[in-house]
Amino acid sequence: MVLFYLSVLIFIYGVYLYLKSKHNFWKQKGVKGPEPLPIVGNFGKVLIMQESIRTLCQNAYEQYPNEKIVGLYRGYTPTLLLRDPELIKQVLIKDFDLFQDRGMSTSRSKLGKNLFEADGETWRVLRHKLTPVFTSKKLKDMIPLVEHCIDNYIHYVDTLIEKNIHHEIRSLKSKYTLQVIGSCAFGLQLNTFSDKEDEFSIMAKRIFNPKPFSKALMMADMIIPGIRKLFNTATDVQDFFLNLISNVIKQREHEPMKRKDFMDLLIQLREQGKVSRKSEDGILEIELDDGLIAAQALIFYAAGFETSSASMSFMVYELSLHQDIQDKIYEEIIGITAKYNGKITYESIKEMIYLDMVFDETLRKHAVAGLLIRKSLADYTMPDVNVYIPKGMPIFIPVSGLQLDKKYYHNPKEFNPENFSAEKKAARPPCTYLPFGEGPRNCIGMRFAKVQSLMGMAAFLRKFRVEPSAKTKAELNYKTTALTLESKDGIWVKISRR
Ligand code: HEM
Repeated sequence: MVLFYLSVLIFIYGVYLYLKSKHNFWKQKGVKGPEPLPIVGNFGKVLIMQESIRTLCQNAYEQYPNEKIVGLYRGYTPTLLLRDPELIKQVLIKDFDLFQDRGMSTSRSKLGKNLFEADGETWRVLRHKLTPVFTSKKLKDMIPLVEHCIDNYIHYVDTLIEKNIHHEIRSLKSKYTLQVIGSCAFGLQLNTFSDKEDEFSIMAKRIFNPKPFSKALMMADMIIPGIRKLFNTATDVQDFFLNLISNVIKQREHEPMKRKDFMDLLIQLREQGKVSRKSEDGILEIELDDGLIAAQALIFYAAGFETSSASMSFMVYELSLHQDIQDKIYEEIIGITAKYNGKITYESIKEMIYLDMVFDETLRKHAVAGLLIRKSLADYTMPDVNVYIPKGMPIFIPVSGLQLDKKYYHNPKEFNPENFSAEKKAARPPCTYLPFGEGPRNCIGMRFAKVQSLMGMAAFLRKFRVEPSAKTKAELNYKTTALTLESKDGIWVKISRR
């Protein structure tokens, strides 16, 4: 019997050693990194939803302050974490052609053909065709739509402060960004400022709160990259948006609305029928059909709504704790709008330098999208560290780690808009501030995001003052499972009329 148990133990130990030996990739190259566990690698806590990938990468960044790169394992897939700004610049900008893809394992859903998830030639074609949708002229054309949403929003907050003392600002700001993006991306007049949620908002929120099976699949994909591709999940969300878009398209074909919103611009694109492009595998043809248009409208919504409302609510949170900064912004808003007949316009916002600094500092301290992802498209030797990485290697860039590093920001936990004075910005190495990514694959909606957030914030701060309420936390606790940075207990403040 003893012999039997001993053999079982030896067998288990043998299996353990074998599984451990498969995590040799980084050791052989002399690259340091956290000790991986058999099967799950470094992603065990991510898999059981105890840690977000953002936190995993931030911890790895902080654990190896003297390294330029850190080696991680997604299951058994070696994954490279870049710490050094020069190497990050090399990947995001200088050698972009070799790191163009995100290599995301999208689901097979029709809506998966969107700019964020697309790779290779498909991404190039889409980015080329969609870039003109975000020019300054096109953004300016959308300002009346944004202004209309701001009026609704200010009116709503005004009625709300009569009723309540404590306000959960994240859900309040999402009512605003949901209305802006609903209007600009889908041409819908959503009634987000009511207590009852409409079907659009419910379906849209499902993208960020997938059903348990989709969530489990996303987690499993962390250690078995590619598994998500095998399933077509969230078909009801997909059908809802595909139907919605084809109805909007039909309606506009009968009676062109000339709203000059994203949908008008996407419909113009659809009229081109298809795009052909030479690729290594022959001629690539992309049908610019309703499905493809729906996928782009939806990604504008998905990438823009949560990120912008999160940024605005973190800004309100910091201002409630820093009354001096809030007063300085207020004076700037009053001074500049006086030159524009008291109006908050696209042009007036451009002059609000301090407001802009506060927004940038908010996204530094609270990096809403705290991680950038790329994939190597060829075998490559990382310059400087001279480490060979094979084709297909996932590359992680820990935005939160860099933006909270005292090497680049003095006292990084302190909220200090002066970090974005012209001198401080010029003195910092490139690629140490990356809230919108960097290089040819950065955030295509960055200017739109800034305009909608800054106009919304200027209008809000001109009319209201924010202060900490009894429910305001001195430090925020972030959710471990959210796709973007989200406070566990919401963000509570007190709002009063000026
Ligand atoms: C404060 C708000 C926002 C933040 C913090 C943000 C952040 C980001 C980041 C970090 C990326 C990845 C960049 C990279 O990999 O280098 C990204 C990509 C993207 N964003 Fe944003 N974003 C915001 C708002 C928006 C808005 C309003 C839209 C659309 C109207 C948008 C559309 C997109 C799209 C389509 C991509 C994929 C671009 C590509 O792969 O070519 N984003 N965003």
